[in-house]
Amino acid sequence: MPQNLLLKGPDKGVRIITLHRPEALNALNTALLGELAAELQAADADPETRAVVLTGSEKAFAAGADIKEMAARDLVGILEDPRLQSWQSISRFSKPIIAAVNGFCLGGGCELAMHADLMIAGENARFGQPEINLGIMPGAGGTQRLRRAVGPALTMQMVLTGEPISAQRALEAGLISEVCQPELTVERAVQLAEIIASKAPIAVRLAKEAVHKAGDTDLASGLRFERHAFTLLAGTQDRQEGLNAFQEKRKPDFKGC
Ligand code: CAA
Repeated sequence: MPQNLLLKGPDKGVRIITLHRPEALNALNTALLGELAAELQAADADPETRAVVLTGSEKAFAAGADIKEMAARDLVGILEDPRLQSWQSISRFSKPIIAAVNGFCLGGGCELAMHADLMIAGENARFGQPEINLGIMPGAGGTQRLRRAVGPALTMQMVLTGEPISAQRALEAGLISEVCQPELTVERAVQLAEIIASKAPIAVRLAKEAVHKAGDTDLASGLRFERHAFTLLAGTQDRQEGLNAFQEKRKPDFKGC
């Protein structure tokens, strides 16, 4: 059983994973990241799981990498950091993942939230890349994913000053898709996850991949990928089910094949 996570589900196709290191504001140490990577791997392999909600506490989604653990690592320790494998594994998760963020979402915490496909946040959320205050810089995708999400101006400001931004600012900048009351964040994320979980899983998976492609390829290649993915879906039973259900004026029953 993981020591640093609370697990719920799958229920209606949705698993909820809660980061749980309250004594350190969910700082991402090796153990927590390893447990998270393992849980996501299990969720990926489980046909009952169609979407994941990732959340923390009301005070903190996660306050970054574990600074105390990091302080004990030298150059070789960083090169051989076992957390790198966990990050890679987390980034390969193929199903939709929704981050429900309250409170501090800083450094590695913000980088983790940006691994989600969709992010919503409570009004009390604070997003930041404060690594510069420690004499370091983001190292788990902060400069790259944030730049793609909110553009160069705000990214430079956040990465070079270390100053956090509010949930409202994150919404305006396109980092998150909704702001809600902190006590409703998880409920709203689960609602969205359940909607996604009710769709055809292969279409969801390919749509997720296609949208991500847009962030790291040129338009012509992205359009080609989209067309191939769209064509691939013609081989699925769920496509037939979706088209039939519309014409028969009933709800589709998607099976994931
Ligand atoms: N690592 C380890 N422990 C942390 C931590 C972190 N990132 N953030 C908070 N904690 C611990 C504190 O040390 C404290 O523990 P003790 O009571 O044992 O001292 C406990 O969590 C509560 O924290 P605070 O007392 O500081 O709580 P606060 O409400 O006064 O302040 C805060 C909250 C502003 C988030 C502050 O804790 C803070 O600035 N944390 C560090 C944020 C940060 O710099 N994150 C970036 C880390 S580097 C990184 O993330 C790089 C990467 O991934 C590659």
